[in-house]
Amino acid sequence: MNRRNFLATSAVATAGALLSSLPGIANAEKKSKTKTTTPSKTRVAIVGTGSRGTGMWGKTVITGYSDMVEYVGLCDKNPGRLEAAKLHMGATCKTYTDFDLMMTETKPDVLIVTTVDATHNEFIIKGMNYGCKILTEKPMTTDEFKCQSILDAQRKTGKEVIVTFNYRYSPHRAKMWELINSGEIGEVTSVDFHWYLDTSHGADYFRRWHRRREFSGSLWVHKASHHFDLLGWWLNSEPEEIFAYGKLDFYGKNGKQRGTNCRNCSHKDTCNFYWDVNKNEYYKKLYTDNEQHDGYLRDGCVFKEDIDIFDKMCASIKYANGVQVAYSLTAYSPYEGYRIAFNGTKGRIDAWIQESNPTFDGGYDEIMLTHNFGERKYFRIPQSEGHGGGDKLMHDKIWRNVKEDPYKQSANIRDGAFAILTGVAARNSCDSGKPVTIASLTDLVPKAVKD
Ligand SMILES: NC(=O)c1ccc[n+]([C@@H]2O[C@H](COP(=O)([O-])OP(=O)(O)OC[C@H]3O[C@@H](n4cnc5c(N)ncnc54)[C@H](O)[C@@H]3O)[C@@H](O)[C@H]2O)c1
Repeated sequence: MNRRNFLATSAVATAGALLSSLPGIANAEKKSKTKTTTPSKTRVAIVGTGSRGTGMWGKTVITGYSDMVEYVGLCDKNPGRLEAAKLHMGATCKTYTDFDLMMTETKPDVLIVTTVDATHNEFIIKGMNYGCKILTEKPMTTDEFKCQSILDAQRKTGKEVIVTFNYRYSPHRAKMWELINSGEIGEVTSVDFHWYLDTSHGADYFRRWHRRREFSGSLWVHKASHHFDLLGWWLNSEPEEIFAYGKLDFYGKNGKQRGTNCRNCSHKDTCNFYWDVNKNEYYKKLYTDNEQHDGYLRDGCVFKEDIDIFDKMCASIKYANGVQVAYSLTAYSPYEGYRIAFNGTKGRIDAWIQESNPTFDGGYDEIMLTHNFGERKYFRIPQSEGHGGGDKLMHDKIWRNVKEDPYKQSANIRDGAFAILTGVAARNSCDSGKPVTIASLTDLVPKAVKD
């Protein structure tokens, strides 16, 4: 066994033992095996019954947490999708196309918001006014004005808003958090962070509503807000200023040929992006069987000329604690993954996650830690389903009311706001060609150290 293997093997054991010995995780595992009796179940309603609402927040919750949770209402503006969603989830509650009617009739404790990004603000605010705790999918909203109105409504109602940043819960990222916060590499001074979306996953954002800024806020908000949230969480600080470039170089008007959507396209045989949505039975039932209600084409052409979001983006971000970040996002990469490095005063932490590559697929995600003038260590974190097992940890925390939060993984309204504001500032910077301060967007003032 060479030095690298020895350190890697011992680090795997340590990482595994460490992760499962942490109170939040051990407790979550123990509690999920224990039948908990509760005086009454949490009454939950969902607005937005697309694939996210019915999967992650529908079937998964009904299957795993029915002892704690009772769905009291499902709402979507597409009546056909709503019925397909109810069937897929195995729910028995009433369905509504009228949100206010659902809220007044069912009086939920918790409202889950999984609609199109640009509409989140409407339901988050109404939900708080109806007295609910809010679980909203990222991004919390898509511009600074909607963000301010959510902040104002939260202050007025005092209701809790949780933004379900599931990326924080992956054990590999939690291990990075632990290593950064252990001080092993001293003070973190800068970060290199580069994210790659491939020509399947990346292309999917150009097929439907995400392709338009007015609905998704662009990938700066829709996608990069996940990454900005991770940065703030890892660095325990809030973003202060950003300067960015962005361009549409590959999809949209750049295509040599185009149609309306794949199924009806005359370029089926020659287009690398041809995709038969109906091969996925779940998608067929949710989307294509219900197009007549709202014209939602799940397999829209990635070369439509109305696409107004960027597919390559880069930014320099300064955090309030002085950390500088070099960030980029590419949406037409041949593979999915990301590279990240934290440069510290005593060393550096590196990770390169490359999905679906056999040479990387040893069942582990690796982290390399190198001390200045010293030794190098490798940590290998076992992979598992659902964002490395993170989705289950997040569900346990939410539904089984796990109080311990050793890695500070729960994201509140302030976290949700700073994640989108970083994206909004980047988008505004691309438009203006000037740096944008985060404090200029809403009344939130970034803190060097998060509360
Ligand atoms: N955390 C993650 O990793 C992750 C992954 C996927 C999606 N998401 C988020 O989940 C949300 C939903 O994504 P999706 O892929 O399921 O999208 P989707 O388009 O499949 O579903 C959205 C649903 O909302 C409905 N809707 C839109 N506006 C509405 C309105 N005004 N009233 C009622 N219903 C309305 C649509 O009819 C549709 O059924 C998005 O905000 C997305 O960013 C998060």
